[in-house]
Amino acid sequence: MMILEESNTKEFIGGQAQLWKHMHGHLETHLLRLAVELGIPDLIHDHGNPITLTELATKLPIQTLNLDKFKQTLKFMVHMNLFAADETDGETKYSLTAASNLLLLKPNNNNKSLAKFVLMNTDPMELSWVGHLRESLGGTKSCIELFFGAKFEAQLEDAEWNAMLIEGLDCGTSIMVDALVEGLRREKVIDEGVATTMVDVGGNSGTVAKGIANAFPLLKCYVLDIAPVVERVAENHPQLEFVVGDMFVLVPNADLVLLKSVLHDFQDDECIKILKNCKEAINPKNGKLILVDIVIDDQMPEFGDARLGMAMAMTIAGGKERTKKEFESLIYEAGFSHYKIISIAALESIIVVYP
Ligand SMILES: C[S@@+](CC[C@H](N)C(=O)[O-])C[C@H]1O[C@@H](n2cnc3c(N)ncnc32)[C@H](O)[C@@H]1O
Repeated sequence: MMILEESNTKEFIGGQAQLWKHMHGHLETHLLRLAVELGIPDLIHDHGNPITLTELATKLPIQTLNLDKFKQTLKFMVHMNLFAADETDGETKYSLTAASNLLLLKPNNNNKSLAKFVLMNTDPMELSWVGHLRESLGGTKSCIELFFGAKFEAQLEDAEWNAMLIEGLDCGTSIMVDALVEGLRREKVIDEGVATTMVDVGGNSGTVAKGIANAFPLLKCYVLDIAPVVERVAENHPQLEFVVGDMFVLVPNADLVLLKSVLHDFQDDECIKILKNCKEAINPKNGKLILVDIVIDDQMPEFGDARLGMAMAMTIAGGKERTKKEFESLIYEAGFSHYKIISIAALESIIVVYP
């Protein structure tokens, strides 16, 4: 009988365990979505921590619940650390964790929630795009383009899909605005009184512009986006003005130009066009371009996996997340003189770019 050496056995078992984990990786995505769809975080929040299985079961929006299956489902959600389970008194009691505290659908005290971002990112249609990756690797089309084919342009006009994107993006952005403002203050990026105008290019519903306007009350902020978005989101705010435009054609003049999570939607040649238009828009002496995007190799190792996950997701979507070096190439190619990266407590970093 052949006896495997201990180190070989360890590797052999480790290899199997790793592959089982990957084979079932998709379950985590589906269970995360299900937790939000069933409103489990809200139910626990409204009831108060902790809640028993029976109490939770009676509140679920499922008519004839199979308690055994639900218990099994919750067990995996607990394994994912979406909920905490306490078994001390015989009956399991469930509580919210740091992650599920961020999955409340109902407005809450601090309005920090990723629930709608989760629903956007785990949308069944979006999850099926990856099925085109093999084909996409052999050509220039993204998985999205291959999925929609000729219907792609029509999809962009789909009001329901657009509403989901706007809400999803909005909540993904709301969660980091405080960290962004903290970074801008800490590094004195916005010199109030000197800089009086800012244009948020591709600013969507203006969540970032609003956060910055509230923090820097002397700043007048313009939010530039395409017509279908502006028509849907424009709102009254004393320091905010929504403007319809095309960043590939013209960026309005301002002391500060901000681009948050825009460059990652585009390939390098398109980014250079946008960046050149931003350079034209700012004062060559004291204007600044403020990029807010994922910098894959920046600090905050806690977000390392998430940044790589986003990089893959953007490859599927037809965009690109970038390293410091890749941003540097774009910045210099567009004619800017220098830049500074500011790490913040968020998935994204700030890159201040000087003309
Ligand atoms: C990924 S979203 C980022 C939204 C926002 N900056 C944020 O971080 O929440 C990209 C935004 O760019 C806008 N956009 C796309 N093409 C554009 C164009 N040609 N001109 C202006 N805005 C555009 C989209 O409508 C969308 O709002």
